[in-house]
Amino acid sequence: MERTYIMIKPDGVQRGLIGEIVKRFESKGFKLVAMKLTKPSKEHMEEHYVDLKEKKFFPGLIEYMTSGPVCAMVWEGKGAVATGRKMLGATMPSESDPGTIRGDLCIEVGRNICHGSDSVDSANKEIAHWFPEGICEWESCSKAWIYE
Ligand code: GTP
Ligand code: MG
Repeated sequence: MERTYIMIKPDGVQRGLIGEIVKRFESKGFKLVAMKLTKPSKEHMEEHYVDLKEKKFFPGLIEYMTSGPVCAMVWEGKGAVATGRKMLGATMPSESDPGTIRGDLCIEVGRNICHGSDSVDSANKEIAHWFPEGICEWESCSKAWIYE
């Protein structure tokens, strides 16, 4: 089954939004297979956002993302990558639809509270980067009530 890397950024943690964000993924029917609160190093975060290193906002992004703990998670389910991105909403909160996490809970792009993998390939890389110890495999008793 497909997996995606979802991360609650330092502003989401500080604002007490972990429960709200976890609730949305749980309620959707996705299965939590890894979760930890961690304060990432600069090097670790630079590697996570390596594709953006030439952007003007990159230093500010790294400063923001290393300013406090993040909640790192792996969610599993059919279409988890694309659906996870839809649930987060557009990168720019001013363009995120109401009903999405960013659309409902934040205002500025530089404080947009959550991250989601943008492809299955990125998800696999990000999961290995954040959970080198591996994830937690388990069978959910709700499976037959979520999938036909
Ligand atoms: P992530 O899920 O965090 O990867 O966001 P994304 O995939 O929707 O967007 P992208 O990967 O292009 O950018 C990563 C993050 O950089 C965004 O979520 C923002 O926090 C930040 N960012 C992107 N564009 C801008 C910008 O124009 N200005 C600022 N200040 N931050 C930006
Ligand atoms: Mg991205």
